[in-house]
Amino acid sequence: MSGQIADGKINEVRERVDIVELVSQYVSLKRSGANHMGLCPFHAEKSPSFSVHAGRQFFHCFGCGVGGDVFSFLMKIEGLAFPDAIRRLAERVGVELEERQLSPEEERRQQQRERLFRVNEIAADYFHQLLMEQPQGEPGRQYLKQRGYGRKAANEFQLGYAADSWEGLTRHLQQQNVAAEDARTLGLIRPGKQERGDYDLFRGRLLFPISDLSGRVVAFGGRVLDDSKPKYINSPESPIYHKGQVLFGLYQARQAMRQAGEVILVEGYFDQLALCRAGFPQVVATCGTALTSDHARLLKRYVQKVLLLFDQDAAGKQATFKAMAALQDEGLPAAVIELPSGEDPDSFVQKQGAEAFGQCLAQARPAMDLFMEESLAAAGSDVAERVRAAETILERLSGLPSELEQDLYLKALAERSGIDLQLLKQKLAEVARRTSRPREAPAPPAVEYPAPAEYPPVGDSYSEPPLPPAVESPPDQPQWLRGEEMVLCLLLREPEARQLLMDEGAAEYFRSPAALALAERLLALLGDTPADQLAPLIAKLDPEELPPVKALLQIDPALLSGGVREILAGCRQSLARNSRKQRREELLKQIRAAEQAGDVARAKELMDEFTKQK
Ligand code: UTP
Ligand code: MN
Repeated sequence: MSGQIADGKINEVRERVDIVELVSQYVSLKRSGANHMGLCPFHAEKSPSFSVHAGRQFFHCFGCGVGGDVFSFLMKIEGLAFPDAIRRLAERVGVELEERQLSPEEERRQQQRERLFRVNEIAADYFHQLLMEQPQGEPGRQYLKQRGYGRKAANEFQLGYAADSWEGLTRHLQQQNVAAEDARTLGLIRPGKQERGDYDLFRGRLLFPISDLSGRVVAFGGRVLDDSKPKYINSPESPIYHKGQVLFGLYQARQAMRQAGEVILVEGYFDQLALCRAGFPQVVATCGTALTSDHARLLKRYVQKVLLLFDQDAAGKQATFKAMAALQDEGLPAAVIELPSGEDPDSFVQKQGAEAFGQCLAQARPAMDLFMEESLAAAGSDVAERVRAAETILERLSGLPSELEQDLYLKALAERSGIDLQLLKQKLAEVARRTSRPREAPAPPAVEYPAPAEYPPVGDSYSEPPLPPAVESPPDQPQWLRGEEMVLCLLLREPEARQLLMDEGAAEYFRSPAALALAERLLALLGDTPADQLAPLIAKLDPEELPPVKALLQIDPALLSGGVREILAGCRQSLARNSRKQRREELLKQIRAAEQAGDVARAKELMDEFTKQK
């Protein structure tokens, strides 16, 4: 649901939630003076350095430095966006969030989504019941048993069985007063031809429910019990299911992922199950689709590294390198786990056992390394092919965030390809220039932002920065935040924006001196000239002012949709929040230093300021 949550409400929720109680659900805490201490859930440690301050309602880890309030804790531990964390806690403490009035269309969609979740829940329960209890579930139970799974796995993943009949579920849903339309939207039932009624999509299949991050069932994957085709049938896309945004097992794996700091990414539902059972719970599967950038962003909330484990054949390799690229574009390093050819994780663990798998895991190689090797091997000895391969490799290398890493790979590439290192360096610089997309290159932000997909619309009063984090400007351009960039863009296009900024003072909208200076220059120069008459004025800019302005003018106006006032307000708020957040991070660092130095008085003082900073 998207709506505005007033700051007052946010504070009310924050005050009502007992942080010790909240954290205790995830961490075993022991009282120690005014604090509670435990093992930090955000990094691996053996002695407790994670403290929760009940009175001050915040947490802090002296080991890894994370800290914050109830919202940041929940966001971090559950991988939620800020608004979702608020909603969840509000529900918990019974605070009614009066959200913005939804439009009738939004209202309708919202209600539909709620209904669809309910229908899937009814269906999941029905299938699960069949598998666990009913005589008709026997084939499903037999099949699971034959693959080595018992009730435990079936319960943990809420596995189900669809009996081999045409209308088992259809009837059950009718009895539960589910509208046929909703069940059809989810693909659970299909309209029969002519006079025949609806019929079940899943028949005689073992069912894997696919959950979202809250554990709600959004779709199913169903496997036949024999060798017939298709092996799997999956729920179609629906208003609550987009396979490019969902990972099977993520709901169950998220804690383990955070603890391990990495995740094993597999292709199959059974691979997920098999690794989980073998003692590697940090595993998720794509749902019969290639890894998308949405997936990558999702994973990034929990882990720092992804271990790819796809089929050990040519198609699997292809998928691996595509996934590597998608992950790299989101700044997530990828490694590849290799198994003997012909094995998938499930079959490997069955035959060789968990320990052997652990060894493969330990030997995972950086995906880039493998990519280089495979590309060069595929090129063979043909010179033109080798050069082409080197170019593809350079393209990937240019996407690596670390220069050090780039350098290491360049050396390896020179060695393996026989191409001169200096030449490769020069080529890399060329490729980097050619492929650089300044607006998309993410510079590491000083503070943590939720994934861009989560940003609420500009202007929401609760939002985390509504705009993607700071951009890395082209080399000859000043650095500024994306919010600042939006404001500059508006200044160039909208006389109304200039007026507003003159009224309120441009300084309110900028943090970077370069951006502010440019804004003031533009305000002075452009006055209330309409957008289509700016050219002669812009020509008057100093030569060093021109490149950034030209870049700004190239930004797609579609990014600026919405009212000028609203966009400006959003930018301003995000900037303020950004500053507050940075200040808080700074304070936490100082608190940590003071506490480590044993300066209790100073630490207390800083904590007071920290609490006031909310
Ligand atoms: P696999 O064929 O590797 O199946 O497909 P699997 O998961 O190893 O299953 P078992 O071990 O043979 O029982 C990998 C994934 O591709 C999707 C499914 O998500 C499956 O888990 N898939 C496969 C389909 O969606 N449809 C199909 O017909 C086959
Ligand atoms: Mn398999």
